[in-house]
Amino acid sequence: MTQIKAAKNALLNLSSVTLFFDDEISKLTELDKQQISYFKKELEQQKDLIILQELNIWHYYVPVKKEAVNPELLEKLRTKGCQLQAALNGNKLSEVCVINLTTEPEFVLALSEGMALANYQFLKYLKDKKKKQYSLQTIHISDKGVSQKDADELSHVIQATCLARTLINEPVSYLSATQFGKEMSKAGKDYGFSVKVLGKKEIEAKKMGGLLAVNAGSIDPPTFTIMEYKPEKVRNKKPIVLVGKGVVFDTGGLSLKPTPGSMDEMKCDMSGGAAVVGALSAIAMNKLPVHVIGLVPATDNRPGMNAVCPQDIITISDGTTVEVLNTDAEGRLILADALVWAKQYKPELCIDLATLTGAAVRAIGSYASAIMGTAEQKVMNQLAESGMRTWERTVQFPMWKEYGDEMRSDIADLKNLGGANAGQITAGKFLEHFTDYPWIHIDIAGPAYLNAPNAYRTKGGTGVGVRLLYDFIKQNYC
Ligand code: BES
Ligand code: MN
Ligand code: ZN
Repeated sequence: MTQIKAAKNALLNLSSVTLFFDDEISKLTELDKQQISYFKKELEQQKDLIILQELNIWHYYVPVKKEAVNPELLEKLRTKGCQLQAALNGNKLSEVCVINLTTEPEFVLALSEGMALANYQFLKYLKDKKKKQYSLQTIHISDKGVSQKDADELSHVIQATCLARTLINEPVSYLSATQFGKEMSKAGKDYGFSVKVLGKKEIEAKKMGGLLAVNAGSIDPPTFTIMEYKPEKVRNKKPIVLVGKGVVFDTGGLSLKPTPGSMDEMKCDMSGGAAVVGALSAIAMNKLPVHVIGLVPATDNRPGMNAVCPQDIITISDGTTVEVLNTDAEGRLILADALVWAKQYKPELCIDLATLTGAAVRAIGSYASAIMGTAEQKVMNQLAESGMRTWERTVQFPMWKEYGDEMRSDIADLKNLGGANAGQITAGKFLEHFTDYPWIHIDIAGPAYLNAPNAYRTKGGTGVGVRLLYDFIKQNYC
């Protein structure tokens, strides 16, 4: 984990990154005449990075145009942080001092955020880990507007995002549903929230027919994890409930996915669960005054001996019967039991996150999540705003009745398969059936997992959802 610290003064003996307004070269008092004229020329040519070097001390200068803080600019700075992270590691530097000469603390926080997120690595399975390990360890932020508390808050959110990434990057050979439960328990102990993991017996006793059906083809038992963060002082009377899909591997079950192609990245199918444990970790580490509950139903989806068959009819924990027409539409079955479970809390708001449909990916690619729900439009908009601020962007889809009609079965209450089109919405309508509270569904199938890095979003699990949920809850419920 990259450390982020607040520095009282600029640390002069260290390599540095200096953010400055491009019409304020005069603030760079360390420059001599020759350097100033060099800077002026570079700025005339619209250079967005100017580099000075003395031996192995490097000074990077990032000019910023004077404009109000806006999401596009913050994202540009995170991306710049990623570029600098590569340069710093290329020069084998372990520490850097980021100096802010602009008036906006948010600028230096965004740049440092991009740098630290880009510095994430998953090296557990490499024999020669040491060789591959990045040199960069510590980012010192020098800005009077950034306190140690601000630096810690950023560090914690990054740490929680990286926890989610690592859980996603772990293959199912390690991360069974049982192991996933253990990892969530460990996060609870480390960061300060309570965790209870229900095993197969309890899941059977609670008649969670969706989770049990998906698990029927597997040798490994399912788990249902309940996390709760409730500090002494809370602002919300009724809790916020976060639900995450925890399919630790999705083969499709008997409706097997073809490989190569659609099965190859399906260790990512617990990314929703990873986002939920990540968000709870970030909230607990930063001691936000808010009551939050996290629910993660987990299992692998396999075509083993007693696997659920197409046309089987199963019963969800609220008594709803579902005709399973495609065993690859499994996420909605396990989420149904979790959404039913959430009713007992009478939540102020329930948000579920899931790598639910290929349709969401086809609609908007990997640059955004599909959102829809029954929460007031004001709340949907607040989530979309957090999406812009964190650049974990969202696109809202409608919840018209007609999409729900596609999920009706002749011989059961619902079927788990809709028509050929708008699969992300018909899946959402299926989930809606199991809610009786304000609810938002986030289909993260596009951005959850990348097969090539996209700036500071490293290859593999991105941890999408953690920064989004943290910002949304902090801004609107604290
Ligand atoms: N886990 C997949 C969805 C997915 C696709 C996640 C691509 C990440 C990337 C989900 O369980 C699934 O298989 N969905 C099916 C549903 C269909 C059978 C109705 C799909 O989208 O094809
Ligand atoms: Mn599936
Ligand atoms: Zn799935």
